[in-house]
Amino acid sequence: MKPIPYGRQSINKDDINAVIETLTSDFLTQGPKVKEFEDAFAKYIGVKYAVAVCNATAGLHLAVLALNLNKEERVITTPITFAASANCVRYAGGEVWFADIDKNTYTLSLEKTKKLIESKPSGFFKGIIPVDFAGLPVDLEKFRDLADKHNLWIIEDACHAPGGYFIDSKGIKQMCGNANYADIGIFSFHPVKHIACGEGGMITTNSEVLYKRLSKLRTHGISKENMSENHGGWYYEMQELGYNYRLTDIQSALGITQLAKNDQGIASRNRIANKYKQAFNGKIKFQCLPEGTYNAHHLFIVEVDDRKGLYDFLRTHNIFTQIHYIPVHTLPYYKEIGYQNANLNNSENYYSKCISLPMYPSLTDTEQAFVIDKVLTFVNG
Ligand SMILES: Cc1ncc(COP(=O)(O)O)c(C=O)c1O
Repeated sequence: MKPIPYGRQSINKDDINAVIETLTSDFLTQGPKVKEFEDAFAKYIGVKYAVAVCNATAGLHLAVLALNLNKEERVITTPITFAASANCVRYAGGEVWFADIDKNTYTLSLEKTKKLIESKPSGFFKGIIPVDFAGLPVDLEKFRDLADKHNLWIIEDACHAPGGYFIDSKGIKQMCGNANYADIGIFSFHPVKHIACGEGGMITTNSEVLYKRLSKLRTHGISKENMSENHGGWYYEMQELGYNYRLTDIQSALGITQLAKNDQGIASRNRIANKYKQAFNGKIKFQCLPEGTYNAHHLFIVEVDDRKGLYDFLRTHNIFTQIHYIPVHTLPYYKEIGYQNANLNNSENYYSKCISLPMYPSLTDTEQAFVIDKVLTFVNG
Protein backbone atom coordinates (compact mmCIF):
# COMPACT_ATOMS: atom_id res chain seq x y z
CA MET A 1 0.00 0.00 0.00
CA LYS A 2 1.40 3.42 -0.94
CA PRO A 3 1.55 6.06 1.83
CA ILE A 4 -1.87 7.35 2.89
CA PRO A 5 -1.78 10.91 4.29
CA TYR A 6 -4.48 12.36 6.57
CA GLY A 7 -5.47 14.92 3.94
CA ARG A 8 -4.58 15.96 0.43
CA GLN A 9 -5.66 18.39 -2.26
CA SER A 10 -7.55 17.36 -5.41
CA ILE A 11 -6.10 19.08 -8.47
CA ASN A 12 -7.36 18.19 -11.94
CA LYS A 13 -6.95 19.39 -15.55
CA ASP A 14 -9.46 22.27 -15.10
CA ASP A 15 -7.37 23.65 -12.24
CA ILE A 16 -4.12 23.33 -14.18
CA ASN A 17 -5.59 24.95 -17.31
CA ALA A 18 -7.03 27.84 -15.29
CA VAL A 19 -3.62 28.61 -13.78
CA ILE A 20 -1.85 28.35 -17.14
CA GLU A 21 -4.40 30.68 -18.74
CA THR A 22 -3.86 33.26 -16.00
CA LEU A 23 -0.08 33.00 -16.30
CA THR A 24 -0.31 34.03 -19.94
CA SER A 25 -2.81 36.86 -19.25
CA ASP A 26 -1.94 40.50 -18.49
CA PHE A 27 -2.51 40.11 -14.76
CA LEU A 28 -0.64 38.01 -12.25
CA THR A 29 -1.43 39.87 -9.05
CA GLN A 30 -4.66 41.87 -8.52
CA GLY A 31 -6.49 41.42 -11.81
CA PRO A 32 -10.01 40.35 -12.78
CA LYS A 33 -9.71 36.83 -11.32
CA VAL A 34 -9.61 38.12 -7.73
CA LYS A 35 -12.99 39.85 -8.10
CA GLU A 36 -14.40 36.87 -10.01
CA PHE A 37 -13.35 34.56 -7.18
CA GLU A 38 -14.74 36.91 -4.52
CA ASP A 39 -18.09 37.15 -6.34
CA ALA A 40 -18.33 33.39 -6.95
CA PHE A 41 -17.43 32.67 -3.31
CA ALA A 42 -19.94 35.21 -1.94
CA LYS A 43 -22.66 33.66 -4.11
CA TYR A 44 -21.78 30.14 -3.01
CA ILE A 45 -21.85 31.02 0.69
CA GLY A 46 -24.85 33.33 0.36
CA VAL A 47 -23.20 36.45 1.78
CA LYS A 48 -23.11 40.03 0.44
CA TYR A 49 -19.37 40.68 0.46
CA ALA A 50 -16.21 38.60 0.17
CA VAL A 51 -12.65 39.94 0.44
CA ALA A 52 -9.88 37.62 -0.82
CA VAL A 53 -6.67 37.63 1.22
CA CYS A 54 -3.29 35.88 1.08
CA ASN A 55 -4.23 33.40 3.84
CA ALA A 56 -6.79 32.99 6.62
CA THR A 57 -4.34 34.17 9.27
CA ALA A 58 -4.16 37.53 7.47
CA GLY A 59 -7.96 37.45 7.21
CA LEU A 60 -8.31 36.93 10.98
CA HIS A 61 -5.87 39.79 11.60
CA LEU A 62 -7.83 42.17 9.39
CA ALA A 63 -11.11 41.02 10.95
CA VAL A 64 -10.09 41.98 14.50
CA LEU A 65 -8.71 45.31 13.22
CA ALA A 66 -11.90 46.08 11.27
CA LEU A 67 -13.90 45.33 14.44
CA ASN A 68 -11.69 47.86 16.25
CA LEU A 69 -10.08 45.54 18.78
CA ASN A 70 -7.77 47.64 20.95
CA LYS A 71 -4.80 46.79 23.15
CA GLU A 72 -5.64 44.73 26.23
CA GLU A 73 -9.22 44.13 25.13
CA ARG A 74 -10.38 40.56 25.65
CA VAL A 75 -11.70 37.97 23.22
CA ILE A 76 -12.89 34.40 23.83
CA THR A 77 -12.02 31.45 21.61
CA THR A 78 -11.61 27.68 21.83
CA PRO A 79 -8.31 25.98 22.77
CA ILE A 80 -9.01 23.22 20.21
CA THR A 81 -8.13 25.07 17.05
CA PHE A 82 -5.10 26.06 15.03
CA ALA A 83 -3.12 28.77 16.86
CA ALA A 84 -4.08 31.39 14.23
CA SER A 85 -7.64 31.64 15.63
CA ALA A 86 -6.14 33.03 18.85
CA ASN A 87 -3.02 34.73 17.48
CA CYS A 88 -5.05 37.37 15.61
CA VAL A 89 -6.13 38.80 18.97
CA ARG A 90 -2.48 39.02 20.06
CA TYR A 91 -1.51 40.79 16.79
CA ALA A 92 -3.86 43.59 17.83
CA GLY A 93 -2.42 43.61 21.37
CA GLY A 94 -5.57 42.00 22.80
CA GLU A 95 -5.89 39.27 25.43
CA VAL A 96 -7.07 35.76 24.51
CA TRP A 97 -9.38 33.99 26.94
CA PHE A 98 -10.19 30.36 26.34
CA ALA A 99 -13.51 28.67 27.11
CA ASP A 100 -13.68 24.87 27.11
CA ILE A 101 -15.06 22.67 24.33
CA ASP A 102 -18.13 20.46 24.35
CA LYS A 103 -17.07 16.84 25.00
CA ASN A 104 -19.08 15.45 22.10
CA THR A 105 -18.92 18.03 19.29
CA TYR A 106 -15.38 19.23 20.18
CA THR A 107 -16.45 22.82 19.37
CA LEU A 108 -16.51 25.83 21.73
CA SER A 109 -19.11 25.12 24.43
CA LEU A 110 -21.93 27.67 24.53
CA GLU A 111 -22.50 26.96 28.23
CA LYS A 112 -18.81 27.34 29.14
CA THR A 113 -18.60 30.55 27.13
CA LYS A 114 -21.73 31.91 28.84
CA LYS A 115 -20.33 30.98 32.27
CA LEU A 116 -17.04 32.71 31.52
CA ILE A 117 -18.75 35.88 30.28
CA GLU A 118 -21.11 35.97 33.25
CA SER A 119 -18.24 35.50 35.71
CA LYS A 120 -16.85 38.92 34.70
CA PRO A 121 -18.19 42.46 34.88
CA SER A 122 -20.18 43.87 31.98
CA GLY A 123 -17.94 45.06 29.10
CA PHE A 124 -15.04 42.76 30.12
CA PHE A 125 -15.02 40.94 26.76
CA LYS A 126 -15.25 42.42 23.25
CA GLY A 127 -15.81 39.41 21.05
CA ILE A 128 -16.02 35.66 20.51
CA ILE A 129 -14.25 33.59 17.85
CA PRO A 130 -16.04 30.23 17.51
CA VAL A 131 -14.46 27.71 15.14
CA ASP A 132 -16.38 25.26 12.91
CA PHE A 133 -13.92 22.67 14.07
CA ALA A 134 -13.16 19.75 11.69
CA GLY A 135 -15.99 21.04 9.47
CA LEU A 136 -18.75 20.88 12.07
CA PRO A 137 -20.83 24.10 12.00
CA VAL A 138 -21.25 25.89 15.32
CA ASP A 139 -24.85 26.92 16.09
CA LEU A 140 -24.21 30.61 15.69
CA GLU A 141 -27.82 31.59 16.31
CA LYS A 142 -27.31 30.62 19.94
CA PHE A 143 -23.92 32.34 20.13
CA ARG A 144 -25.50 35.48 18.61
CA ASP A 145 -28.13 35.59 21.37
CA LEU A 146 -25.39 35.38 23.96
CA ALA A 147 -23.22 37.95 22.16
CA ASP A 148 -26.11 40.41 21.83
CA LYS A 149 -26.84 40.21 25.56
CA HIS A 150 -23.26 41.25 26.27
CA ASN A 151 -22.60 43.54 23.32
CA LEU A 152 -19.94 41.33 21.74
CA TRP A 153 -18.95 40.82 18.13
CA ILE A 154 -18.50 37.37 16.57
CA ILE A 155 -15.88 36.26 14.07
CA GLU A 156 -16.73 32.79 12.75
CA ASP A 157 -13.55 30.90 11.96
CA ALA A 158 -15.04 28.80 9.14
CA CYS A 159 -11.65 27.67 7.79
CA HIS A 160 -12.67 24.01 8.10
CA ALA A 161 -16.19 24.40 6.80
CA PRO A 162 -16.86 26.00 3.40
CA GLY A 163 -20.10 24.27 2.34
CA GLY A 164 -21.12 23.13 5.83
CA TYR A 165 -24.35 24.45 7.33
CA PHE A 166 -26.76 24.29 10.25
CA ILE A 167 -30.53 24.79 10.31
CA ASP A 168 -31.61 27.68 12.54
CA SER A 169 -34.71 27.85 14.77
CA LYS A 170 -36.74 29.26 11.86
CA GLY A 171 -35.87 26.22 9.76
CA ILE A 172 -33.51 28.23 7.53
CA LYS A 173 -30.29 26.71 6.23
CA GLN A 174 -27.35 28.81 7.42
CA MET A 175 -24.16 28.21 5.45
CA CYS A 176 -20.95 28.50 7.48
CA GLY A 177 -19.48 31.96 7.08
CA ASN A 178 -22.64 33.56 5.66
CA ALA A 179 -22.39 36.20 8.41
CA ASN A 180 -26.11 36.12 9.19
CA TYR A 181 -25.35 35.52 12.86
CA ALA A 182 -21.65 36.41 12.94
CA ASP A 183 -20.18 39.79 11.99
CA ILE A 184 -17.43 38.26 9.89
CA GLY A 185 -16.57 34.80 8.53
CA ILE A 186 -13.06 33.55 7.71
CA PHE A 187 -11.99 30.81 5.28
CA SER A 188 -8.63 29.21 4.45
CA PHE A 189 -7.46 27.89 1.10
CA HIS A 190 -4.40 26.07 2.40
CA PRO A 191 -4.08 22.87 0.30
CA VAL A 192 -5.11 20.50 3.05
CA LYS A 193 -8.47 22.31 3.28
CA HIS A 194 -11.40 21.88 0.86
CA ILE A 195 -10.38 24.58 -1.63
CA ALA A 196 -6.68 24.69 -2.45
CA CYS A 197 -5.05 27.92 -3.63
CA GLY A 198 -1.54 27.08 -2.37
CA GLU A 199 -2.03 29.82 0.21
CA GLY A 200 -5.20 31.87 0.35
CA GLY A 201 -8.13 33.03 2.41
CA MET A 202 -11.49 34.80 2.25
CA ILE A 203 -13.24 37.19 4.61
CA THR A 204 -17.04 37.36 4.40
CA THR A 205 -19.48 39.92 5.79
CA ASN A 206 -22.89 41.46 5.14
CA SER A 207 -21.80 44.89 6.38
CA GLU A 208 -20.80 47.43 3.73
CA VAL A 209 -18.85 49.41 6.34
CA LEU A 210 -16.80 46.36 7.32
CA TYR A 211 -16.34 45.37 3.67
CA LYS A 212 -14.85 48.77 2.79
CA ARG A 213 -12.60 48.81 5.84
CA LEU A 214 -11.38 45.24 5.20
CA SER A 215 -10.67 46.01 1.53
CA LYS A 216 -8.67 49.08 2.52
CA LEU A 217 -6.70 47.31 5.25
CA ARG A 218 -5.85 44.51 2.80
CA THR A 219 -4.02 47.02 0.58
CA HIS A 220 -1.83 49.11 2.90
CA GLY A 221 -4.75 51.21 4.17
CA ILE A 222 -4.86 52.91 0.77
CA SER A 223 -8.10 54.22 -0.69
CA LYS A 224 -9.41 56.48 -3.44
CA GLU A 225 -12.67 57.05 -1.54
CA ASN A 226 -13.38 59.82 0.97
CA MET A 227 -10.09 61.57 0.14
CA SER A 228 -9.23 64.86 1.83
CA GLU A 229 -7.52 66.11 -1.39
CA ASN A 230 -7.35 65.05 -5.03
CA HIS A 231 -4.35 65.93 -7.21
CA GLY A 232 -5.48 63.97 -10.32
CA GLY A 233 -6.17 60.51 -11.68
CA TRP A 234 -3.07 59.01 -10.02
CA TYR A 235 -3.89 60.29 -6.58
CA TYR A 236 -4.67 58.03 -3.64
CA GLU A 237 -4.49 58.36 0.09
CA MET A 238 -3.09 56.04 2.69
CA GLN A 239 -5.72 56.70 5.35
CA GLU A 240 -4.59 54.24 7.99
CA LEU A 241 -1.86 51.68 8.56
CA GLY A 242 -2.75 48.63 6.50
CA TYR A 243 -0.95 45.62 5.05
CA ASN A 244 -0.21 43.87 1.79
CA TYR A 245 -2.47 40.86 2.37
CA ARG A 246 -3.60 40.47 -1.24
CA LEU A 247 -4.36 37.22 -3.04
CA THR A 248 -3.01 36.92 -6.58
CA ASP A 249 -4.88 36.33 -9.84
CA ILE A 250 -2.99 33.04 -10.26
CA GLN A 251 -4.27 31.76 -6.90
CA SER A 252 -7.77 33.14 -7.56
CA ALA A 253 -7.97 31.29 -10.90
CA LEU A 254 -7.25 28.08 -8.99
CA GLY A 255 -9.75 29.08 -6.30
CA ILE A 256 -12.53 29.49 -8.88
CA THR A 257 -12.11 26.01 -10.37
CA GLN A 258 -11.65 24.48 -6.92
CA LEU A 259 -14.79 26.17 -5.60
CA ALA A 260 -16.83 24.71 -8.47
CA LYS A 261 -15.97 21.22 -7.17
CA ASN A 262 -16.58 21.90 -3.49
CA ASP A 263 -20.05 20.37 -3.16
CA GLN A 264 -18.88 17.21 -4.89
CA GLY A 265 -15.83 17.06 -2.59
CA ILE A 266 -17.94 17.45 0.55
CA ALA A 267 -20.34 14.74 -0.62
CA SER A 268 -17.35 12.38 -0.99
CA ARG A 269 -16.06 13.42 2.44
CA ASN A 270 -19.47 12.63 3.96
CA ARG A 271 -19.55 9.25 2.24
CA ILE A 272 -16.13 8.47 3.70
CA ALA A 273 -17.24 9.71 7.15
CA ASN A 274 -20.31 7.48 7.06
CA LYS A 275 -18.16 4.44 6.32
CA TYR A 276 -15.89 5.25 9.27
CA LYS A 277 -18.94 5.71 11.49
CA GLN A 278 -20.46 2.39 10.44
CA ALA A 279 -17.18 0.60 11.13
CA PHE A 280 -16.53 2.27 14.50
CA ASN A 281 -20.06 2.65 15.88
CA GLY A 282 -20.20 1.42 19.49
CA LYS A 283 -16.46 0.61 19.44
CA ILE A 284 -14.63 3.94 19.08
CA LYS A 285 -15.81 7.45 19.96
CA PHE A 286 -16.03 9.97 17.09
CA GLN A 287 -17.21 13.58 16.74
CA CYS A 288 -20.97 13.74 17.23
CA LEU A 289 -23.10 15.69 14.76
CA PRO A 290 -25.99 17.75 16.15
CA GLU A 291 -29.34 17.31 14.36
CA GLY A 292 -29.88 19.51 11.31
CA THR A 293 -26.16 20.02 10.79
CA TYR A 294 -24.19 19.25 7.62
CA ASN A 295 -20.55 18.61 8.43
CA ALA A 296 -18.08 19.76 5.76
CA HIS A 297 -15.70 17.11 7.14
CA HIS A 298 -12.35 18.74 6.76
CA LEU A 299 -11.30 16.07 9.25
CA PHE A 300 -12.50 12.77 10.68
CA ILE A 301 -11.43 12.50 14.30
CA VAL A 302 -11.69 9.56 16.68
CA GLU A 303 -10.75 9.26 20.35
CA VAL A 304 -8.72 6.30 21.60
CA ASP A 305 -7.07 5.63 24.96
CA ASP A 306 -3.64 4.76 23.55
CA ARG A 307 -3.47 7.56 21.00
CA LYS A 308 0.34 7.57 20.66
CA GLY A 309 0.30 3.79 20.25
CA LEU A 310 -2.25 4.02 17.43
CA TYR A 311 -0.40 6.91 15.74
CA ASP A 312 2.88 4.94 15.75
CA PHE A 313 1.21 1.66 14.74
CA LEU A 314 -0.51 3.29 11.73
CA ARG A 315 2.78 4.85 10.62
CA THR A 316 4.35 1.40 10.47
CA HIS A 317 1.61 0.62 7.93
CA ASN A 318 2.26 3.78 5.90
CA ILE A 319 -0.85 5.53 7.25
CA PHE A 320 0.04 9.09 8.24
CA THR A 321 -2.48 10.49 10.69
CA GLN A 322 -2.38 13.88 12.42
CA ILE A 323 -3.39 15.37 15.75
CA HIS A 324 -5.82 18.32 15.73
CA TYR A 325 -4.89 20.12 17.85
CA ILE A 326 -2.45 20.58 20.70
CA PRO A 327 -4.61 22.88 22.89
CA VAL A 328 -3.55 26.45 22.15
CA HIS A 329 -3.29 27.42 25.84
CA THR A 330 -0.63 24.72 26.34
CA LEU A 331 1.66 25.98 23.55
CA PRO A 332 4.87 27.49 25.01
CA TYR A 333 4.02 31.04 23.88
CA TYR A 334 0.61 30.96 25.57
CA LYS A 335 2.01 29.17 28.64
CA GLU A 336 4.57 31.92 29.06
CA ILE A 337 1.89 34.57 29.06
CA GLY A 338 0.03 32.75 31.81
CA TYR A 339 -2.39 30.18 30.46
CA GLN A 340 -0.92 26.98 31.84
CA ASN A 341 -3.32 26.94 34.79
CA ALA A 342 -6.49 27.47 32.79
CA ASN A 343 -9.30 25.06 33.74
CA LEU A 344 -9.98 23.49 30.34
CA ASN A 345 -10.46 19.85 31.24
CA ASN A 346 -12.57 18.76 28.27
CA SER A 347 -9.98 20.19 25.86
CA GLU A 348 -7.04 18.57 27.62
CA ASN A 349 -8.83 15.23 27.92
CA TYR A 350 -9.81 15.40 24.24
CA TYR A 351 -6.21 16.16 23.25
CA SER A 352 -4.93 13.10 25.13
CA LYS A 353 -7.11 10.84 22.94
CA CYS A 354 -7.77 12.49 19.57
CA ILE A 355 -6.38 11.36 16.24
CA SER A 356 -7.41 12.47 12.73
CA LEU A 357 -7.77 9.62 10.24
CA PRO A 358 -7.28 10.00 6.48
CA MET A 359 -10.08 12.15 5.01
CA TYR A 360 -9.99 13.55 1.48
CA PRO A 361 -12.20 13.07 -1.60
CA SER A 362 -9.72 10.90 -3.51
CA LEU A 363 -9.27 8.38 -0.66
CA THR A 364 -10.23 5.10 -2.32
CA ASP A 365 -12.52 2.40 -0.86
CA THR A 366 -9.55 0.03 -0.71
CA GLU A 367 -7.38 2.57 1.11
CA GLN A 368 -10.15 3.38 3.58
CA ALA A 369 -10.87 -0.31 4.22
CA PHE A 370 -7.13 -0.76 4.93
CA VAL A 371 -7.18 2.16 7.40
CA ILE A 372 -10.32 0.84 9.15
CA ASP A 373 -8.84 -2.64 9.39
CA LYS A 374 -5.61 -1.35 10.94
CA VAL A 375 -7.43 0.91 13.42
CA LEU A 376 -9.71 -1.92 14.57
CA THR A 377 -6.81 -4.37 14.76
CA PHE A 378 -5.00 -1.98 17.10
CA VAL A 379 -7.99 -1.06 19.23
CA ASN A 380 -9.17 -4.68 19.60
CA GLY A 381 -5.65 -5.58 20.77
C1 LIG B 1 -9.17 26.78 12.27
C2 LIG B 1 -8.10 27.48 11.49
N1 LIG B 1 -8.06 28.82 11.51
C3 LIG B 1 -7.12 29.49 10.81
C4 LIG B 1 -6.16 28.85 10.07
C5 LIG B 1 -5.13 29.62 9.33
O1 LIG B 1 -5.24 29.40 7.96
P1 LIG B 1 -4.09 29.82 6.93
O2 LIG B 1 -3.12 28.70 6.91
O3 LIG B 1 -4.81 29.98 5.63
O4 LIG B 1 -3.51 31.09 7.42
C6 LIG B 1 -6.18 27.45 10.02
C7 LIG B 1 -5.16 26.71 9.24
O5 LIG B 1 -4.83 25.60 9.47
C8 LIG B 1 -7.16 26.75 10.75
O6 LIG B 1 -7.19 25.40 10.75
